[in-house]
Formats: sequence, structure tokens, C-alpha cells
Amino acid sequence: MSSTAPSSPTTVDIGPFLSQMSKLWKNDGIRSLFPLENIPGMISLLAGRPNSSTFPFESITMKLKPALAGMPAPTDDDDPFTITLENEELNEALQYGMTAGVARLIDWLAELQTHVHKRVQDGSWAITVSAGSQDVMYKTCQALVDDGDYFLVETPVYPGTLGFLATMPCTLIEVHADSQGLNPANLEAILSTWETTNPGKPYPKVLYTIPSGSNPTGASIPEGRKIEVLKLAKKYNFLLLEDDAYAFLYYGPAGQQARSYFALEPEVNAEQGRVVRFDSFSKVLSSGMRLGYMTASPRLCAAVNLITSNTSLQPSTFSQIVAYSVLSRWGPKGFLAHCAGVAEFYRSRRDMFERVAYKHLTGLAEWTTPVAGMFLYIKLRVHSDNREADSWDLISTKAVAKGVLAVPGTAFMPLRGPTPFLRVSFSIIEEPMADEACRRLREVILEARAEAEAASRID
Ligand SMILES: Cc1ncc(COP(=O)(O)O)c(C=O)c1O
Repeated sequence: MSSTAPSSPTTVDIGPFLSQMSKLWKNDGIRSLFPLENIPGMISLLAGRPNSSTFPFESITMKLKPALAGMPAPTDDDDPFTITLENEELNEALQYGMTAGVARLIDWLAELQTHVHKRVQDGSWAITVSAGSQDVMYKTCQALVDDGDYFLVETPVYPGTLGFLATMPCTLIEVHADSQGLNPANLEAILSTWETTNPGKPYPKVLYTIPSGSNPTGASIPEGRKIEVLKLAKKYNFLLLEDDAYAFLYYGPAGQQARSYFALEPEVNAEQGRVVRFDSFSKVLSSGMRLGYMTASPRLCAAVNLITSNTSLQPSTFSQIVAYSVLSRWGPKGFLAHCAGVAEFYRSRRDMFERVAYKHLTGLAEWTTPVAGMFLYIKLRVHSDNREADSWDLISTKAVAKGVLAVPGTAFMPLRGPTPFLRVSFSIIEEPMADEACRRLREVILEARAEAEAASRID
């Protein structure tokens, strides 16, 4: 396997980044012994595993959808679209498993990461499977955040991350994102003036960012900006949490998807371990299966696994085996072909939604066309001049009264500041409903405009 990395990147020492909390978690005395069961000849009296023969499932058969675009051509199986879990494999699926995930799924994911990000499997990174990426992002932040820490957050940002960060003893620093994603100039402005704006305070330890088809902005950061951000990460010594939940939903021009931070770090910074990558199967296999995975330095993975071994114990073995049964048929290339088909589906949804949005909202709202993901981040133009009006009341009250639900932009602001934006999702809505939703939004904006104009006449 070849790599674009220089011959020997340095390894970032994760130790100083780990929180005091992460040091409180201890091996639970049972799960930490599980790996020893794999030693040939070992007789295990370890775990209180239930006896699988008492489970009511004889076999579980799944039918794949052959029609989904991207599905690779049938193999020489009799029926390549039917998967049956039975006997040992079913027992394994129904049983407790390893904390970090099912070993063969982890191997498959490592192969995928090497294929996609061109990172050699040289021991500098490991994989932890999780109950969706949300679970492992939370645990990672637990493992990193200390009392009094400063935490850089791309803004606007996915509220799911804000939800758990709100419980942590850190101060959030907003780093602006625009139609091109995270803005490195703003990041640099924050960091280069840190000592004057935050005298005596520690520099931020972590940056959280959503590089592809961001939730909520829909923006995808170009490679040039990623390189600038990576250089700042090294210069100011912070870890970069790359939440790439929408990476597989890229539908922009072929061959122009920016390489990931994880792919770029050895080349740009000649180091490894500063980027902590989160992937999710939620948007391309199933969100209900709750499967995601972290790719990070082995030490950080171990810190997170320790939390899991004491809390949720492990990600669902059942979900992992089901996912593996499909992924192993596809291989990384087949999986990516499937993802391309899914992305194409969302591209046509985006086109449909933009069509009706242009029809009803031209002159009343603006947005940037996304090249990945499932969101439009729409800026309302309540005033006919360029003044901005906060969308909160309009969207959370007036739009609801008109029968249309969208997320007011304030939900995505770490410090809850006002914003004229709202987020719409075009993932499941059909054209007639999308058309009606945009028509209702138009009425809401027109009424708000009329009110604003009347108020300005009174002034
Ligand atoms: C940006 C972002 N990150 C993470 C998640 C969580 O994904 P998962 O279902 O893998 O937990 C979501 C879910 O919508 C998301 O939008």
C-alpha cells in the first residue's frame, strides 16, 4: 500500500490532551480480559454471557434491495441479495462482544480508511466502533475536556454536539463558518490574539468541525482551507475533531471532493494523531442500527474504549454483524459505489428543493447550493434593504402557525446569538410538500416584511 505521507511523520503525544476525568476510568476487570480468550487452547470461565441457545431466534434472513444504484453486480452466490444469519454467526450477533467492536468489522473499516484516505496501517491510528458517531464523539470529548478548558467550535454547528458540550466544564469559542465552511482567517484571528483577549488563559485544546455537507450550513470546506486549518492546529497545538457524518453524501463534481483532514495531516504537518476522525453509517446504511466509528491515535481510542467498557459496554454486536455481512460482500469499492448511489439520490432531492425554493423565495431568501449532505441553510431577507432580522420568532412561532416546520438558526449557535438563517432538510420530503412548505414560508416572510415596513413608517 503506498502513501503520500513523508517517510516518518512524528506522532502527536495525546497524553497531555487527556482529561483528568479520563484518568478516573479504570479497567472493569472482566472486559479487559476478553482478548485473552482468543489465545489458542484457552478455556474461558470469564464473562457472565447468557447462553445463546436460550435466545428465541433460529435464523435471521435479510433481503437487500438490488435496485439501489451503486449495488455491485451479483457475485457467484445463488442469491446475492439474501443474507441469512444462523448458527455461530447468529450466536455471535446476539451475544456480548468486544468493547471496541467486532474484530473483522474493525479490519474492514481499516481497509476502507486506507482506501479512502490513503493512510497506511502502520499502527499510528486505530478504530473504535460505536453506537453512532454521536456516542463516540461524546466519549471523546469526555476524554479530552478538563475544567477551565477552551473549546473551539465551528459556528453554526450541529446542536447534537452542543447538547453534550453544554454539560462539560469548558468555555466554547465560536469559529465562524461561511459558505465555504470553517473560516481559517477567523480561526487565526482568534488564536493570534489569544493572549490579549484571554490573558492568562490556556490556549484551546480542541477544534470541532464538520467538513462535508455541514449540518446546518450544507457547506463543504475546500482542501486549501483545510490545509490552513491543519497548519494552525499544529502551530497552536490543538486536536482537530473531524465530524464527517456527511462525507459519503458528496454529490459535487466528480473527482473534486476535498481530501479529509485525516488524509492530509501527514502531508501537511508531517505528523499523525492530531486529527480525530468520526464517520457514521447513519446516512448510508441505516440510522436505526446506530453504527459509527472513530479513527484516531491508539491512545485516544483506548481512553474512549475504557469509558465504553464501564458505561454502554460495547456497540451492538447485532448491528455490527448485520453491517459486516453487507459490507464484506461489497468490499470498500462496492460500499463506495453504494454511497455514490445514495449521494446521487440526495443530489436530485437538492435539485428538487432548490427548484421550489427559487419558485417561491426568490428575492425573499438566499442560500448557497450544497455539494454534499441534506440541508439548505436559508438566510431570510425580511427587510428589503440589507438589514438582517433574527429568524427565531418568525420560524418558531409564525411559520409553525402557518403549518411549516424548520429549525431557526439560533439552535446552531453555541452562544445562542441571533441569526437570520433557518435550516431545512430535503432528505425525505416529496416535491408537492416541499412546494407547499416553500409557499407557506413565502407568506411568512411577506407578512414579516409588511409588518417591518409598517413599523418603520411609524418610527
Ligand atoms: C454533523 C453530525 N454529526 C453527527 C451526527 C450523529 O450521527 P450518528 O447517527 O452517527 O450518531 C449527526 C446526526 O445527524 C450529524 O448531523
